[in-house]
Amino acid sequence: MTTYPMTRLRRTRATAWSRAMHREVLVTPADLIWPLFVTEGEGVEDPILSLPGVSRWSVDGIVARAREAVALGIPCLALFPNTQPDRRSEDGKEALNPDNLMCRAIKAIKQTCGDDIGVLTDVALDPYTSHGQDGLIDDEGYVLNDQTVEMLVGQSLNQAAAGADIIAPSDMMDGRIGAIREALEGAGHINVQIMSYAAKYASAFYGPFRDAVGSRGLLKGNKKTYQMDPANAEEALREVEMDLAEGADSVMVKPGLPYLDIACRVKQTFGVPVFAYQVSGEYAMIEAAVAAGAADRDAMVLETLVAFKRAGCSGVLTYHAAHAARLMGA
Ligand code: PBG
Repeated sequence: MTTYPMTRLRRTRATAWSRAMHREVLVTPADLIWPLFVTEGEGVEDPILSLPGVSRWSVDGIVARAREAVALGIPCLALFPNTQPDRRSEDGKEALNPDNLMCRAIKAIKQTCGDDIGVLTDVALDPYTSHGQDGLIDDEGYVLNDQTVEMLVGQSLNQAAAGADIIAPSDMMDGRIGAIREALEGAGHINVQIMSYAAKYASAFYGPFRDAVGSRGLLKGNKKTYQMDPANAEEALREVEMDLAEGADSVMVKPGLPYLDIACRVKQTFGVPVFAYQVSGEYAMIEAAVAAGAADRDAMVLETLVAFKRAGCSGVLTYHAAHAARLMGA
């Protein structure tokens, strides 16, 4: 007697319409946050060699990218400045300058696009320090927590005054979310959000980014005394718990794909908006595979984005954002 499987999971996969009907998650342009690098000058497009296809843009070019993002349905940009070497210092005080590159870029986008797009700004001192660390250092090069937090508060207020919509501290100091939230409230910025880089790992995947902001050659040592050990997951939940208790509106897990388990656990544990940062090294890996003829870019990009949604992420910061939005038919 032949027995047939009564349950055939392949039944619902047999046709395109049925696959579409049974799909559990969908990625749309509204799931994307587009990271952009700002540089001095006018009419400047400066390609970043370790991130093929990504450039630093002067403020006018950034505004053009913002318009492009609006047209594509991308809801938010993440800005990072490439600060000129003569504006960098031991204490990174250019971060507090109301006329710094970052503030000029924020203002220009907001003047042109208003509330058609959100502007998320990175809070950390590494684009401004002469040593490339995210905070103030002592004689041994150790990054000082509480003194750094004071600078980060000033940097956040500076960005909020320029018009930033989401403050995104990427520095991993303890207690900075509470300090920044309190200062924002005190200054009347009650609707400026905080997206905390809550679980940020000391990762080998940040190399091209450090090229992009010009801190790679400056950085001595590593960031292991503040960024997390890649072996730790329980600690990531503590980081998230702490940042939420201090007033974070949403949290980020970074890098992305190698830490999908963390994103999933954070979502399941806290049920809050979780964003993943598919970082520069992940982008570079995809582009290297494409250049080697080993992969189909479009399929790979869309598959990775679906993976983030399936894991429970509300959205993804990705250098492929504009390309992906176009693939989605925007
Ligand atoms: C620094 C910062 C980094 C990234 C975002 N903010 C690098 C670092 O911690 O050294 C990395 C993003 C990427 O690799 O795409 N505060």
